[in-house]
Amino acid sequence: MADSTAPSHTTRPLNVDTWDDFARLVEANNGVWGGCWCMGFHPEGVGKDRTASQNREAKLRHVRARTVQQVLVYEGDQCVGWCQYGPPAEVPNIKNPRAYNETLTAPPDWRIGCLFTDRRYRREGVARAALVAALAAIKEAGGGLVEAYPEQVEGREPQRGAYLHTGPESVFLELGFTRDRRIAKWRWVVQRRVQP
Ligand SMILES: CC(C)(COP(=O)(O)OP(=O)(O)OC[C@H]1O[C@@H](n2cnc3c(N)ncnc32)[C@H](O)[C@@H]1OP(=O)(O)O)[C@@H](O)C(=O)NCCC(=O)NCCS
Repeated sequence: MADSTAPSHTTRPLNVDTWDDFARLVEANNGVWGGCWCMGFHPEGVGKDRTASQNREAKLRHVRARTVQQVLVYEGDQCVGWCQYGPPAEVPNIKNPRAYNETLTAPPDWRIGCLFTDRRYRREGVARAALVAALAAIKEAGGGLVEAYPEQVEGREPQRGAYLHTGPESVFLELGFTRDRRIAKWRWVVQRRVQP
């Protein structure tokens, strides 16, 4: 059943029932990044030689095996965006892994992978709604320490949307995340504890 997160947005989990909605959104956006099908953060990654249809099949396999956790955001009955999340084993491929691992003391319980909003619906709060719903799902699943690796936007030239696929840092800070440590010029590990 859909749950309300914002006046005009509803959210649903990505699963076999919502796969077609997700697929329509990805196909309307040329496979996203020319065919990644949101595979980048999964264990097998996008793969240099993998085709868009292979990535599509790989994503569908995760959906069928329930090894993906992803919130879809709807405007009416149209899926317009998502937020992928999961425990580190499901979301192992993060940005700047070397710097991250050098300063790692303990892994988080959860990671936010990537965010995406259809071009026609940007700056309408879709990513915010997706993240709010992902945090609610994490709470429902027992909570714990949530980490994300967003792009810093403050103090920087405006960035293209694609650059912000791990999310703009501002929306995480707005939702209670705080900076833990810097792992690249424009990237901090941000964390928030979610109570069960
Ligand atoms: C980054 C992205 C997810 C943001 O989605 P969105 O739905 O437009 O974001 P929201 O409207 O919820 O914005 C929430 C806040 O994030 C920040 N923000 C969003 N887009 C921003 C941008 N382009 N530059 C700076 N800050 C931005 C703002 O603080 C914004 O709040 P405000 O509008 O009240 O100022 C979207 O631009 C996108 O999908 N980009 C492509 C990412 C991609 O390629 N993903 C593929 C993953 S494999």
